[in-house]
Amino acid sequence: MNLFDVYPLFDISIVKASGSVLWDNKGKQYLDLYGGHAVISIGHSHPHYLKKIKEQLDQIGFYSNSIKIAPQLELAEKLGELCGYPDYQLFLCNSGAEANENALKLASFHTNRKKVIAFTKSFHGRTSLAVAATDDKSIVAPVNETANIQFLPFNDETALEKAMSQEVCAVIVEGIQGVGGVNIPTVSFLKKIEALCKQYGAIFILDEVQSGYGRSGKFFAHQYSGVKPQLITTAKGMGNGFPVASVLISPEIKAKHSLLGTTFGGNYLACAAAIAVLDVIKQEKLVDHTLQIGNNWINELKKLKDVKEVRGQGLMIGVELNNPCADIRKKLLTDHGIFTGSASNKNVIRLLPALNIQQHDIDAFNTAFKHVLANSAVTI
Ligand SMILES: Cc1ncc(COP(=O)(O)O)c(C=O)c1O
Repeated sequence: MNLFDVYPLFDISIVKASGSVLWDNKGKQYLDLYGGHAVISIGHSHPHYLKKIKEQLDQIGFYSNSIKIAPQLELAEKLGELCGYPDYQLFLCNSGAEANENALKLASFHTNRKKVIAFTKSFHGRTSLAVAATDDKSIVAPVNETANIQFLPFNDETALEKAMSQEVCAVIVEGIQGVGGVNIPTVSFLKKIEALCKQYGAIFILDEVQSGYGRSGKFFAHQYSGVKPQLITTAKGMGNGFPVASVLISPEIKAKHSLLGTTFGGNYLACAAAIAVLDVIKQEKLVDHTLQIGNNWINELKKLKDVKEVRGQGLMIGVELNNPCADIRKKLLTDHGIFTGSASNKNVIRLLPALNIQQHDIDAFNTAFKHVLANSAVTI
């Protein structure tokens, strides 16, 4: 059987990883500044993470959500405390798309409405409603098309004011747009969404799938603006590679049996991984580390002369060049052994390393990046 060929692949086979270092099957070493799509939060193969998962596996790996699963309660307790939403309720699932799908459903159930407002350059996942709310026609199948989603220009408060009505069940926005090229919502835009959602009885959904879990230098990126969304979705960094995702649900939204559900969500192993991630984020003070090291890095990158713009918060960084950056990324990988990420904006390089990245790795990237830029005809 062949694999369904949907991914453009680098001809590299990674067989081992530790912290921010990867090794391929020929023993070549790489620096991981992408974390496999922003997934690696506490570094590859963190000892506490390995220990927790191995210990759990020795006890029980899986049972369904028809029994009490104690690690779910431990996870909810630890997450609530660390993220600053102790009074919210936790629904566990498996991926970012599934988290957003459930958040949108929940908003619709709660309001008994069906119109959703999303924004240009958004990415919320590839399933049914999540993909319909994603601003990329090329990944929306005819069956996903729906008149229920309205796209508005990102950060445009006037457009939002005009579009809001009693028919809107939810407004969904990313804490920081990731796939769209690292675009930060203004404080005033997020406050406007919050105010209009309150005024019209709509649900404010914050997609923190990529920007959450400390990546921005706060636990959630929206916490820079002081807003309090009713639904917050998480995934990526939550499990450091183990598939686990969640919806954080405000107390005003009441649960009812069978309203939402999943077979695998919240299984023992996923909880063990997610608890280990929170333990490490807390013990190693990774949110503070991310804020400091990330913001210093952003300032350093801003000094580079061949760079058009640097956007970001903490360790969620987009470096926009004046031209498409595919060749630059390729040279960074092949000549310097550094993994970086792309974005739907072809000129943007995304930097999304593990939150415990060290300064010498950042210095190594800066040196390589300057070298590649200086030797590249396209950017100048
Ligand atoms: C902001 C955001 N939301 C949702 C998703 C979808 O997550 P998943 O691929 O786990 O379904 C992504 C993935 O890149 C994302 O960046």
